[in-house]
Amino acid sequence: MTDSRLAIIILAAGQGTRMRSETPKLLHHLAGIPIVSHVLATARELDAAYTVAVVRHERDLLVDVITEQLPDGLVVDQDETPGTGRAVEQAVDALPADFDGDVLVMNGDTPMLDVQTLAGLVDEHRRSRAAATLLSAYLPDPSGYGRIVRHTDDDDSRADGSAGRVDRIVEHRDATDSELAIAEINAGVYMFGASELRDLLPQLSTHNAQGEKYLTDVIELLRRAGSEVTALPVADSWLVAGINDRAQLSEAAAKMNALIIRGWQLAGVTVQDPLTTWIDLKATLEPDVTVLPGTQIRGATVIARGAVVGPDTTLVDCEIGQGAIVKRTDAELAVIGAGATVGPFSYLRPNTVLGAGGKIGTFVETKNARIGAGSKVPHLSYVGDAHIGEKSNIGAATIFANYDGIVKNHTEVGSHVRTGSHNVFVAPVTIGDGAYSGAGTVVRKNVPPGSLAMNVAPQRNLEGWVASHREGSAADLAAKRAESATADNSTTAEPVAPDSGE
Ligand code: UD1
Ligand code: CA
Repeated sequence: MTDSRLAIIILAAGQGTRMRSETPKLLHHLAGIPIVSHVLATARELDAAYTVAVVRHERDLLVDVITEQLPDGLVVDQDETPGTGRAVEQAVDALPADFDGDVLVMNGDTPMLDVQTLAGLVDEHRRSRAAATLLSAYLPDPSGYGRIVRHTDDDDSRADGSAGRVDRIVEHRDATDSELAIAEINAGVYMFGASELRDLLPQLSTHNAQGEKYLTDVIELLRRAGSEVTALPVADSWLVAGINDRAQLSEAAAKMNALIIRGWQLAGVTVQDPLTTWIDLKATLEPDVTVLPGTQIRGATVIARGAVVGPDTTLVDCEIGQGAIVKRTDAELAVIGAGATVGPFSYLRPNTVLGAGGKIGTFVETKNARIGAGSKVPHLSYVGDAHIGEKSNIGAATIFANYDGIVKNHTEVGSHVRTGSHNVFVAPVTIGDGAYSGAGTVVRKNVPPGSLAMNVAPQRNLEGWVASHREGSAADLAAKRAESATADNSTTAEPVAPDSGE
């Protein structure tokens, strides 16, 4: 049910300079979706009366993502005054003037946060009636984060063992040496009252190392007004990891991947080596799937029961049928039928559909190809813009020549067809049901059902060519040895069968 007393503000206007990227920081991916999408998804679950996202840097790109995920959310453009304080100030202005409920502020670069932790923060804030409640964490390396400065006096050791009340937050770049030694960091997730924010945010100054309006300075203003501020340390500090650079991105991605894999393992999926396996958030795997080392399961890939995927396989937005085997393969937007086998060393490009029990084998590339149930393309082939019926076998090293330099053309191969090795099917062309072709055939004309297609050029052997053109070479000597061996054999022994050497 919608929480009518709750507004959520998501800060997404920062430049993300530390990523050193053309892509806005919050659109870098983590488990297959943008950093900010994790935050938006979590926010959405809280079902607040208002959700406001603040944007500025590359605003259009961000707005696309935000409005897709939160169609009812408000989007606010931050002006030229920088800082998280200014961002929240403008977001609060976008709320109805009479909204005097609670405001949950979240940094857009904190993707690991879960709904339980946030809901706990909302509840605790409302229970304690503090003016502000924020999440903190104790980090072995707190560098970069704002530090929580708690009140210290003789009375410091409280009966309940909790640390002293929060006095202020000091940013890393503004901190003294003794403040830098504080291990408790500000997570960038806060509960405030809307009315207090309206009063205090306009009072923020930009007199600090970064020349920004810091949201964190609101804490000191609240304290000076005699209000209580509470910081709730989270048990697992990774929950509040903020992503500023690519090193932090990869650490968070690894942690999230480990959590995703553990979830699938507990749901009945065998993942042999979690450290070399990557599974995106949107992928789904049924019980008794086996994932072998070195495998990436990306996008909205779906893998059915009993399938074995890997080792060394990348699947992007694929559908893998029950009991299929996909080994050392790179595939995107491919559908693999139940019991089919793919690989090793196959490259399946978009719109490849392999029927049940079919096979795409070693060094085979497919694109826009429908291969029917039980049909096989076992070796060294390219199948593009084609339909192959059922139970057909395509000979080794066959090329579906689909492109004439202007348009892509279609090849139709029927069912129960057996084509010879090293064929070229020059599209557009049709090979009828039950047809055969000889080795080395270039199929330029349609092959009627049940026919054998071949275009045999007679083979000529120019005897003695090596002796006259490559005299004294290793080849020549080898040939001469073979000749004399044949001569010896024919003088000594058994007659040679008339049909040998065919
Ligand atoms: C901020 C906090 C710091 C805290 C850390 C937690 C402040 C001043 N500092 O630092 O105490 O430990 O988060 O991760 O708040 N943003 C805007 N508009 C701006 C600037 C930033 O919307 O003008 C957004 C960014 O897109 C980002 C978030 O606010 O999502 C935090 O900004 P960032 O620059 O990463 O702040 P930190 O230096 O990490
Ligand atoms: Ca940050």
